[in-house]
Amino acid sequence: MKLRRLAVFASGGGSNFQSILASWKAGGHPLEPVALLADRPSAPVLDKARAAGLDTAVFGKGCWSEDAPRLREVLDWLQERSVDVVALAGFLRRVPPELVAAFRGRMLNIHPALLPAFGGAGMYGHFVHEAVWRAGCRVSGATVHLVDEAYDRGPILLQRAVALDAVDGPAEIAGRVLQVEHELYPEALALLAERGITIEEGRAIPCRASR
Ligand code: GRF
Repeated sequence: MKLRRLAVFASGGGSNFQSILASWKAGGHPLEPVALLADRPSAPVLDKARAAGLDTAVFGKGCWSEDAPRLREVLDWLQERSVDVVALAGFLRRVPPELVAAFRGRMLNIHPALLPAFGGAGMYGHFVHEAVWRAGCRVSGATVHLVDEAYDRGPILLQRAVALDAVDGPAEIAGRVLQVEHELYPEALALLAERGITIEEGRAIPCRASR
């Protein structure tokens, strides 16, 4: 199956969305961003996506709770747009198992630390960088992983470390890591779409040099 069409799920500012879009325009990866889903109407990423001409939608609380009463609407929205791949980019909701299953092997997430360290419940946004700072880490970094039912624990596709020499606090760590995220996510999308990934014993293995 040729992977061509990308939906991005985001809750916040959308700098990762912008780097994914810019990279696609520059030929860095072949997945055309066609749809942007946010979980709240005030997410600044929505304006960026509209300005870029993408289809946007807000699916709020009822879509992401355990019983996910409106999940079918999300699935239909993605299907109507022929979405092949979903990229979670600063998306603060837990994705229900049915949606994970519908996009198994085709849904990625970016996390602003070197998983499995500093991941899991409560570890998002500034909380991650504050924990890294408190722990006195000498490196942090970014991880792109496939999404499965275990939160922040799906098979790791790419990771890149960031040296934390002479950083003066969590905000500076966040800035350094975010720069790396902007390179890493487009690379991971290229890897998925151009080579394909298989999972062997929980490890993500790129398939072949080209497809
Ligand atoms: C990024 O650090 C991402 O890894 C994390 O939330 C932040 C979102 O940034 N999950 P942005 O909205 O892409 O600018």
